[in-house]
Amino acid sequence: VRVAVLISGAGSNMAALIDAGQAPDSGYEVVLVLSNIEGAGGLAIAAAKGVATATVTHKPFGKDREAHERAVDAVLRDVGVEVVALAGYMRVLTPWLVGGWRERMLNIHPSLLPLYPGLDTHARAIAAGDAEAGCTVHLVTEGVDEGPILGQARVPIVEGDTAGALAERVKTAEHQLYPQVLTDFCRDLPRR
Ligand code: GRF
Repeated sequence: VRVAVLISGAGSNMAALIDAGQAPDSGYEVVLVLSNIEGAGGLAIAAAKGVATATVTHKPFGKDREAHERAVDAVLRDVGVEVVALAGYMRVLTPWLVGGWRERMLNIHPSLLPLYPGLDTHARAIAAGDAEAGCTVHLVTEGVDEGPILGQARVPIVEGDTAGALAERVKTAEHQLYPQVLTDFCRDLPRR
């Protein structure tokens, strides 16, 4: 299965997805890493791993989100992408893009959804006095961080935890969870 990973930043989840996809018996391959941010850290990592990269910045499109998405979508279709994995892609998607990739687009979110959609998940979990935090891989639907859950991993919140320390602990879990869920998802994917 041909997978594209969409990023805006460091791309540590993206790197984990590429690595797992390069394993001999993996059922998917990351064929493209696309960023909306010029020079995003993850782009160099992807290139070093031999994966094609593309940058489609949103700035020239101004407030027209769909126009930017049409440009992104054209690149995805051109490369023959079958599944899209969002990994720290910091854009809210319009129904147009979501509809075009329905049941074919995954996202990872750093909380135990439905708890803490949106930003600052770790600080919010600590402030709430939660005993655990975690991460969720879900199908992308129109509502932000709302789609059907495909997998979750839990990590403890410890005494004196900081958002930064917790984020690191959760990231380690993300790097395990996302490749696992994507592998299962691609194995069960109805071929077009
Ligand atoms: C991750 O915590 C992910 O859950 C969230 O954005 C972060 C991306 O980190 N959606 P990275 O770029 O994969 O390192």
